[in-house]
Amino acid sequence: MTGRTTLFLCVFATVATLTGVRAAIDVKAWLGEEPLTPERILEEMVEYFSQRDPHGIPVLKVPEPIEAPDRVTASQITLWDLKISGHSGLRLEYINVNLTTFTGVVRISVPKINVLGQYEWPGWWSTSAGSANITVTDIQVALNLQLGINTKGLLIVDGLQITLNYEDLILGFEGLAGEHALLVGAADTFFSTIIQPLIVGGIQDKLTKVLNERLEQRLKDKPFPNSISPVDYLVAKVRRDLRESGKDPIFVERKDVNLAWGVSVQLKNINIKGLTTLHRTHEVSAQFIDNALFVTIQIGTQQLKAGADWSISASLMPAVGGHLDVEVESLSVTVMAKQPADIRSPPVLREIDIQLGNLAVRSVGESTMDYLVELMVNLLPNTFRNIIMDKIEPKIHQAIQKQFNGLDIHRIILTKLAERRQAEANASP
Ligand SMILES: *[C@@H]1O[C@H](CO)[C@@H](O)[C@H](O)[C@H]1NC(C)=O
Ligand SMILES: *[C@@H]1O[C@H](CO)[C@@H](O)[C@H](O)[C@H]1NC(C)=O
Repeated sequence: MTGRTTLFLCVFATVATLTGVRAAIDVKAWLGEEPLTPERILEEMVEYFSQRDPHGIPVLKVPEPIEAPDRVTASQITLWDLKISGHSGLRLEYINVNLTTFTGVVRISVPKINVLGQYEWPGWWSTSAGSANITVTDIQVALNLQLGINTKGLLIVDGLQITLNYEDLILGFEGLAGEHALLVGAADTFFSTIIQPLIVGGIQDKLTKVLNERLEQRLKDKPFPNSISPVDYLVAKVRRDLRESGKDPIFVERKDVNLAWGVSVQLKNINIKGLTTLHRTHEVSAQFIDNALFVTIQIGTQQLKAGADWSISASLMPAVGGHLDVEVESLSVTVMAKQPADIRSPPVLREIDIQLGNLAVRSVGESTMDYLVELMVNLLPNTFRNIIMDKIEPKIHQAIQKQFNGLDIHRIILTKLAERRQAEANASP
């Protein structure tokens, strides 16, 4: 949960600072009358993301246009009486949190921002002054985060970079002196010398500082890595449920395989042991795209053991059989899940990909047939691997989806918040 909260916080901070443009704007009024509790933020976010096409600034009641009467100085230009509009078109496009590389990317788009106001621009020979009308279209804001851990074991923001891109910049300055007209004519230069520093300047450092303060506040009694991965918690829960619902060992009824020349192999009393050694192995990442959170987790088990009674029948041969034990060195699974941004809907397991490690087969029978079967299976491990996989895959899929269906994230967060409130109340009577 931490990663997501942090990034949302980021988005807020960016948006608030971007629209604030360092002028004295009555930001307090944006917070609304009720206190801005975590519960209220949660409810407003749920509300926001249950819209069909969420846009605008969530939680805050930002007027359109924002009125900023005070004077703002950017480079040599002073602007005042500003009316800033267009932020209601703001959209959270994309978030990528990679817990392998410890990086995060947030992308926000705004179709159009318009600034109307008065300006004054002193020059070498003359001063330009009058009304200003600045329009920027198709704005893309990218926020790149590099996370790290400090010496105290706390998660910190190591680097933060904001990049602004836009499609078109339309500058309407009334009463422009010749020397300034030149700069305004070169819109790209104007953007990079005046607008970009105005918006980005200072924000990066300020945001890094604010984020680190928040992180320290939040995590000071939960050193890394305990609090970092809610995914580990979920995997542990699946493991416990597998154990408690008697899935270790799991039993499979029977499996018939038809080989060539009318030979068929029958497997009975199949059991698989070791699924409860489930743990996280590789990447854990999360992307927020199209109003849903896509999560990738790679988990695995240690050694798995499977046993089965086998028999082979062929048209011209008497049936023979025995018992086989199979050991699988390891099992690794890539799980891709999706959580709708409206967290009242449960997560969906999108894909599950299973890789088996080396197989070793032992046959515990007395005949030469057992020896032959052992040899054959060891020579054809991939055939066998697939049989095992076909059995395990849907079981795991079902177990996970069942976990997911029972997961009410909205409620879990509310409960956690209530618990924290209670703990805080107990701590300071
Ligand atoms: C996360 O980082 C790893 C290592 O660079 C990379 O292989 C992986 O593709 C990244 N995942 C995402 C979702 O960006
Ligand atoms: C400001 O400029 C834009 C783009 O040129 C134009 O569409 C809009 O009407 C102008 N607004 C005012 C108040 O002049």
